[in-house]
Amino acid sequence: MRRGPILALLGIGTVAGAIATAVAIFLPWLPPVASNERNRIDVVIWFTVSICIVIFAIVIAVLLYSVYRFRAAPDDDSDGPPVHGHTGLEIVWTLIPTLLVTSIGILSAIVLSRDDALGKNVFEVNVTAQQFAWSFSYPESGNLTTGILRLPVNRSVLLHFKSKDVIHSFWVPEFGQKQDTVPGLDTKLHITPNKIGSYPVICTELCGLGHAVMRTEAIVMSQAAFDKWLKSQTKATGSPNPSVSGAAVFKNNQCGSCHTLKAAGATATVGPDLDKLPQYAQTAGKPLESFIRESVSNPKAYIEKGYPKNVMPQTFGQLPKGQLDALVQYLIQSTKKG
Ligand code: CUA
Repeated sequence: MRRGPILALLGIGTVAGAIATAVAIFLPWLPPVASNERNRIDVVIWFTVSICIVIFAIVIAVLLYSVYRFRAAPDDDSDGPPVHGHTGLEIVWTLIPTLLVTSIGILSAIVLSRDDALGKNVFEVNVTAQQFAWSFSYPESGNLTTGILRLPVNRSVLLHFKSKDVIHSFWVPEFGQKQDTVPGLDTKLHITPNKIGSYPVICTELCGLGHAVMRTEAIVMSQAAFDKWLKSQTKATGSPNPSVSGAAVFKNNQCGSCHTLKAAGATATVGPDLDKLPQYAQTAGKPLESFIRESVSNPKAYIEKGYPKNVMPQTFGQLPKGQLDALVQYLIQSTKKG
């Protein structure tokens, strides 16, 4: 080959590669990193992307050069020369992809095994998925149950998943992994959160009408803040405790992500407006308190007109009695003020 074509190929390849690299680096493709596992997964992603960029640059260079250099004259209707394979070329284009794909495979295997390796002092959480809510219980703390996931930072966390109905999938983009929850099967996920903050928990498996609202939050806290929170919660859930705050129960169970309630600053409109509870109770022909209690623990009993059936989770009937009582009283008080 003469020097001219090689220089042309190199030039086009460099420009194509530079454009692809800029697109990869300067656009924010990935959410912020909040776990050790995500760091390793990102290494695999960027390793693979780099290989893609190099191959992209080579292919584009050869393509553009050939289109320009070997184009047919407008009046040239003749066939191109017949080509009967080229053993050397075939070996090269088989060997290179084999090596590249194998190296991605090896790197992935290393990352998978390190991501699965539990650290010392593992913190376990039981996660229950059901249409359309997540709940988290902490065996270390007497199975305290919450609707928001709270985790201590820099500690090995093992999530055990159970599904009560259909397949859901747990995903926190900042943690970098997804795990299906499958009825009748125990699935697990290991996470080592490494950044304090609040991240979305998203259901990423189409699971029914309320799939889009099957979201909650994962809050990563310092071990000290986490211990303090645990202590306050264990106090609050001892069932006959009069100090249980209905507002806290409302918040912990994420009622505000579907309902409006002025007193709680909640403005969502997936489910009925809780400031209108007295009117709803009147329409249903039931006393306010028992109407609220029934609607929380057995949401199918009465569906307000214009709102979807089967979207409100049935889990809230399992709230400890102290929490359920507090929530009912809180809703009564709030609607009185409103
Ligand atoms: Cu649960 Cu989608």
